[in-house]
Amino acid sequence: MRYPESFEIAGRKLSPPLVLSPMAGVTDSPFRRVAKKCGGVGLIVTEFISVEGLTRGNLRSHEMMRYKPEERPIAIQIFGYDIERMRWGAEIAEEAAADFVDINCGCPAKKVVNGGGGSNLLRDLPQLKKILTEVKRAISIPMTVKIRAGWDDKTINCIEVAKLIEDCGGAMITLHGRTRVQGYKGWANWDLVREIKNNVSIPVSGSGDIVKPEEAMRRFEETGADAVHIGRGAISNPYIFRQTWEAMNGLPRYQPPPREMHELLLEFRDNLREHMPERGVIGRMKMLSAQFLKGVRDGAPIRTAVLRSNSVEDMEPLFEEYFALAEVHGIDAELQCARDESAELAECGA
Ligand SMILES: Cc1cc2nc3c(=O)[nH]c(=O)nc-3n(C[C@H](O)[C@H](O)[C@H](O)COP(=O)(O)O)c2cc1C
Repeated sequence: MRYPESFEIAGRKLSPPLVLSPMAGVTDSPFRRVAKKCGGVGLIVTEFISVEGLTRGNLRSHEMMRYKPEERPIAIQIFGYDIERMRWGAEIAEEAAADFVDINCGCPAKKVVNGGGGSNLLRDLPQLKKILTEVKRAISIPMTVKIRAGWDDKTINCIEVAKLIEDCGGAMITLHGRTRVQGYKGWANWDLVREIKNNVSIPVSGSGDIVKPEEAMRRFEETGADAVHIGRGAISNPYIFRQTWEAMNGLPRYQPPPREMHELLLEFRDNLREHMPERGVIGRMKMLSAQFLKGVRDGAPIRTAVLRSNSVEDMEPLFEEYFALAEVHGIDAELQCARDESAELAECGA
């Protein structure tokens, strides 16, 4: 099988066809820069940003739009329900020089859905149509849309929604093949990615459960997707994009030496310190460490100690200890990439 080398959004070529999936509380600028540095990322999507916050001058929402030049190409993802505010939010994203504006129609969190946005739009197609038409009319950069399979098992409507998105001028569709009701349980249905692909002529990307390069390759083969999104798999292994790209090209897979991984973690710390107060840095370091410090024999107690630390200074000798152990025992890539459901808890602040 020849895997795609690139994909195109409204005529703009992006390569590799591997996308860092948006994750609230995870894919902020400090993390995105680390992921991008590891290589193989063709497109980055920000965390979802509330248009209510953006259009009411909420500082944090505006902060969330900031990115460094090395993160491009970048899609800024917005969510909301109000047509005027969605248009305005998209205009703000365009002013922030985003390459694309991505509309969130997938978030399952109660507070988002109760406000009418996220996956609620999958059961309010007249409103979705108005939002997409208005956003498309207002911006000159391409509009992309990320959806779920449907609201619940009985109302799987992603094919209909995909056609609507295409009709409204959407430039790419990403499907996370779970329903809203499903949350993160079970598995994403990738057959639906293939079905959407057969029903629209704009590019289609799939999302869900990829934690190994072989899984991404299999999804390309089975669905004919133009790209794949990788989310949680990139938290425990930000090298997954590079490794997937190498595997797609029949090249040996890069395994970073422990020293490099240690440096990456410290770089993440420095990125965070530029970006937020120390209290936030501690929380984010713990979040990443819980996923990243895996796969080393006898490493679990060190990881636990990191998670109990009160300061980043307390964590640093533990990182040294962990990576020294990794030099001795090696890192088991299988274990490092093992699925971990705990990251789901942070989803969309739910
Ligand atoms: C912590 C977390 C936060 C997420 N936040 C967003 C978000 O802001 N916008 C969005 O479209 N999807 C969000 N998602 C969904 C992911 O982008 C992705 O579609 C989903 O996790 C399935 O892919 P994965 O198995 O590769 O993680 C989030 C997922 C997680 C786990």
